Amino acid sequence: MKTLVVYYSFEGNTEYAAKIIAQKLGADLLQLKAGNEPPSGLGKYLIGGRAALKGEKAILYRINKHPEDYDVVIIGGPVWAGTLPPALREFMIQHPFERKRTALFACSASGNASRMLDRLKTMLAGNEILGELSLKSPLKHKDKCTARIEEFCDGLLGAFSMSEEAAVERAGAAAEDVVKEVENELASIVTAELKKRK
Ligand SMILES: Cc1cc2nc3c(=O)[nH]c(=O)nc-3n(C[C@H](O)[C@H](O)[C@H](O)COP(=O)(O)O)c2cc1C
Repeated sequence: MKTLVVYYSFEGNTEYAAKIIAQKLGADLLQLKAGNEPPSGLGKYLIGGRAALKGEKAILYRINKHPEDYDVVIIGGPVWAGTLPPALREFMIQHPFERKRTALFACSASGNASRMLDRLKTMLAGNEILGELSLKSPLKHKDKCTARIEEFCDGLLGAFSMSEEAAVERAGAAAEDVVKEVENELASIVTAELKKRK
């Protein structure tokens, strides 16, 4: 299962989680970077928060890995003003994809990422969402968050193998249908031939 972890991280929390997830799942990592990030210091809240709320466009650096080349795409980022940071929003707009297995993770100071995750889910319509994880300041709470990240990965690994089993079952059922069709076809040919001979 080819898996990509795409993330944006301004201050390292999401990056911390993304690296653990990629390592546990054997996934590739794609870090998003924008040319127009807010300054560091207190101004970041005002400038970054306003950019997120207004849906301002981020100037994304060129990416070297593309979701369409992967079976599973896991997406993560920090909560900014309750919603997606511009870089992640821009990535979702510029690289829409469908019919992928996906999972989401978010980092925030409050522990409440529900609105940001809902936005992401809306943008991911047409994809299967296998799991989501909301982390509160992982760099401050490493032990607790690492355990939750590992649990999240175990859940995803379980979902991957269940999806594979279901795919094998579906293939088996489809093969049985073909066999039945061939049998019916043969039966009608033999019946027609026998009638002709009478
Ligand atoms: C511009 C800006 C806006 C933020 N807005 C929120 C917010 O609305 N709610 C919240 O809980 N945390 C907010 N935070 C805090 C970050 O979500 C939190 O520190 C997160 O762990 C940072 O992830 P990162 O280190 O990967 O950038 C904000 C941080 C910044 C820089």
